[in-house]
Amino acid sequence: MKAARYYGNHDIRIEDIEQQQLKPGTARIKIAWCGICGTDLHEYLDGPIFCPTPNTPSPVAHETAPVTLGYEMSGVISEVGDGIDDLKVGDHVVVEPYVLHDDVDTSENNDAYHLSKDMNFIGLTGRGGGLSENIVVRRRWIHKIPDSIPLDEAALIEPLSVAVHAVEQAGITGPTKGFALVGGAGPIGVLIASVLHAQGLTVAVTELSELRRKRALESAHVDYAFDPREVDVAAQVHELTDGNGADYMFEASSADPVLQTLIDAGAPRSVLVNASIWGHKPTVDLAQVVLKEITIRGTIAYVNTHPKTIDLVASGKINVKPFITGKINLEDLIDKGFDQLINHNETAVKVLVSPNGEGED
Ligand SMILES: NC(=O)c1ccc[n+]([C@@H]2O[C@H](COP(=O)([O-])OP(=O)(O)OC[C@H]3O[C@@H](n4cnc5c(N)ncnc54)[C@H](O)[C@@H]3O)[C@@H](O)[C@H]2O)c1
Repeated sequence: MKAARYYGNHDIRIEDIEQQQLKPGTARIKIAWCGICGTDLHEYLDGPIFCPTPNTPSPVAHETAPVTLGYEMSGVISEVGDGIDDLKVGDHVVVEPYVLHDDVDTSENNDAYHLSKDMNFIGLTGRGGGLSENIVVRRRWIHKIPDSIPLDEAALIEPLSVAVHAVEQAGITGPTKGFALVGGAGPIGVLIASVLHAQGLTVAVTELSELRRKRALESAHVDYAFDPREVDVAAQVHELTDGNGADYMFEASSADPVLQTLIDAGAPRSVLVNASIWGHKPTVDLAQVVLKEITIRGTIAYVNTHPKTIDLVASGKINVKPFITGKINLEDLIDKGFDQLINHNETAVKVLVSPNGEGED
């Protein structure tokens, strides 16, 4: 079958490879769509980061490069292994793409399996990937979706789960009131903004790109989209909140000035959730954090988040369709996928790839 294989920095090849073997407790998924994520671009430009090298095997998947890429995937069950009685051929599914050590408790009672040692992802560290015609996945990581969710939209359930978990890390677990400021309206920031809007908050974003501000207003339904070169964002937030400041702040830009703005915009006892994965050590003035008793929290990926994310999409509370900005075939992965996202990221939010030839020319 055809697959996109990561050999190393700037070296991704579309190849014909053997499909994975079906084992007891696993099912084969014919891939419908797989999104390209910023992390894939980091692996291509600066990696390997999560991917193994040809000489150093993944400590958790025990595979070396090349590995198949892709973890934002949706598809249809095409084969079911022994020991699975709650999946059938034809079911529509998405994957929670974890590769964890076998002794980790991955039951729904454990709310920290994503923090276990050597945690890594299908489609980066090994065990196949969504940028191939099909993939074999353990039952635990397969989530059924209703047929009412189109399979292209379903490929966004993985990044939306990142946003849902980030919002939960702020202590927001249901409908609530309050003012939230999101720093950066890239794919992660805009999905966080969508979840906040769905929970009933007033949402503002600060973003340099005009197109991204427009998309945040139109598609994520944010209330305010600020250009930090034009306005003092923290002052605007204080004005809009009767001098109190934002109750919740989310960092999704990996930019020091944004982190500072979020701290300056925060209300006393507000919560700042950092989603950004920093390539450098940010420099900010923490005095306001102390004086306002701001709580800063991290967030990584998701844990038991997929079922509620699927509900958010199935119920129509969040419409992910506007965030799909391209649909391509696997052969065009580098030219029309990676290059577009690297060189014209303003115009692209989520580019989906069809390994089975459903993409648009
Ligand atoms: N925590 C997690 O689980 C998780 C998962 C996926 C991605 N991430 C991280 O989240 C971050 C955001 O991801 P993304 O794909 O949306 O990135 P992105 O680069 O597409 O978006 C960042 C946005 O920030 C904006 N920005 C930069 N400087 C700014 C400034 N001074 N003022 C206002 N806006 C500014 C950019 O214009 C851009 O639109 C990255 O660091 C990524 O690695 C984290």
